[in-house]
Amino acid sequence: MTTPAPRPSLRDTLRTGAGLNRDPGAALLDLYDRYGPVVDLGWGSNRHTLLLSPEANELILATDPANFTWRESFWLLVPVNGETALVVSDGDDHARRRRIVQPAFHRRRINTYASVMTEEADRELSTWRPGSTVDAYAAFRQVIRRIVVRCLFGDRFATNDAIVAPLETALGYVNRSPVRRFDHDLPGTAYRRAIRARAAVDELVFAEVEARRRGADETDDVLAWLVAAEDDGAGPTSDALTDQEVRDQVVSLIAAGYDTTSSAMGWSLYRLARHPQHAGAIREEVASAGGADSLDADDLAALPFTGAFVQEVLRHHSPAVMSGRHNVAPFEIHGCTVPAGTSILYSPWLTQHLPDQFRDPFEFRPGRWIPDHPDADAPHPYAHVPFGGGSRRCLGFAFATMELVLMTALAASRHELSWPSSTPPRPGGAVSMAPVGGLPLAVGPLDPVG
Ligand code: HEM
Repeated sequence: MTTPAPRPSLRDTLRTGAGLNRDPGAALLDLYDRYGPVVDLGWGSNRHTLLLSPEANELILATDPANFTWRESFWLLVPVNGETALVVSDGDDHARRRRIVQPAFHRRRINTYASVMTEEADRELSTWRPGSTVDAYAAFRQVIRRIVVRCLFGDRFATNDAIVAPLETALGYVNRSPVRRFDHDLPGTAYRRAIRARAAVDELVFAEVEARRRGADETDDVLAWLVAAEDDGAGPTSDALTDQEVRDQVVSLIAAGYDTTSSAMGWSLYRLARHPQHAGAIREEVASAGGADSLDADDLAALPFTGAFVQEVLRHHSPAVMSGRHNVAPFEIHGCTVPAGTSILYSPWLTQHLPDQFRDPFEFRPGRWIPDHPDADAPHPYAHVPFGGGSRRCLGFAFATMELVLMTALAASRHELSWPSSTPPRPGGAVSMAPVGGLPLAVGPLDPVG
């Protein structure tokens, strides 16, 4: 016998739809409180089954990932990210591409990017003057864009408007909410601008790939790796990536890493401003690790509190609110049957705010992540999934974590920041939750450490 998932009434569904646009976290919690961990929402092509529990996360991400495919859920990314991007690949194609791309993000290689990260963060922070107010979110978006473009494409491209401007246009389009999209190539439409921007990016990327294949540039960046790498043969094929595949991976890696990291860094800066005691602890930790001027990948192990602070930012302000899959075969969960071919949504944000997993989940407590600390929590292994999990865990998780820790350490060490309002910024955004309307922070004089 099959037991369908509960379906909210028409009124509740409309209310949830509006809530998801306004404040997705609150709407999800409300849904969970009223219907439990499995809810069937919407109609027609907009009908989804929401799975809202750590157990569901584990099933989707780790226990039976082959039953949960990506392409149908992420097809909106295809016009810009490309047909062969990892995020829209499944099965053997995905496995082969991931095997080839993943070594570019191995710890040893990404450690070499630390100096780009600290250099770009410090370049921005050195322009902030005590007594001024800065839009810290907008400022660090630029920093993060320069870091991701430099590390993936090489230095020449980071300041090259010929690639940066069209990339912004194209990525801006795929990050729109689906209701603001109209994927028809007609004059004056945002879609046409995005497609033209994509063509401009492609021309430059293909020229660069060709130059790299000729050996005209010896830069050691992700593009160099993608052009040279071959599958290790452990899978069914042992080909190198085609030019189209290289292009799709580079553009989609930038897309996957830009908004998500910017959103997390915005919240990290907000939390530094809201909790001067945490900012002070980070500053002292950096000073003990040798000081901000020489901060490098080797210092990360000496920054456990900064690491815990970033983990808490990723928990409380999870950039990924929900992500999607389609299931190949039916399955049972929490006493409900989910038929084959269902559009499924799971939510890192929701499980990271469940009170039975995290005490006082709306309190910002870095101590949760420090073993033996009085605030330490012991959540289910799949309750905290800001980077997803299993064989399709975020490819850039180590890159992004290192970047966030280094940038947070530098921001705390260079300035005293404060939030000049009694209400927190409102989170919003179609792809990742960022502070709506920017993040105006007051920059104050820094007390010397010690
Ligand atoms: C704080 C920053 C980031 C967050 C919160 C984040 C989050 C995520 C999440 C939740 C997923 C899995 C989605 C799912 O299960 O449906 C994912 C996948 C992915 N992320 Fe990230 N990400 C971040 C930064 C990055 C960066 C910097 C890169 C690359 C430079 C990147 C590349 C990818 C790729 C390629 C995938 C797909 C992996 C696959 O299909 O095998 N991400 N990310």
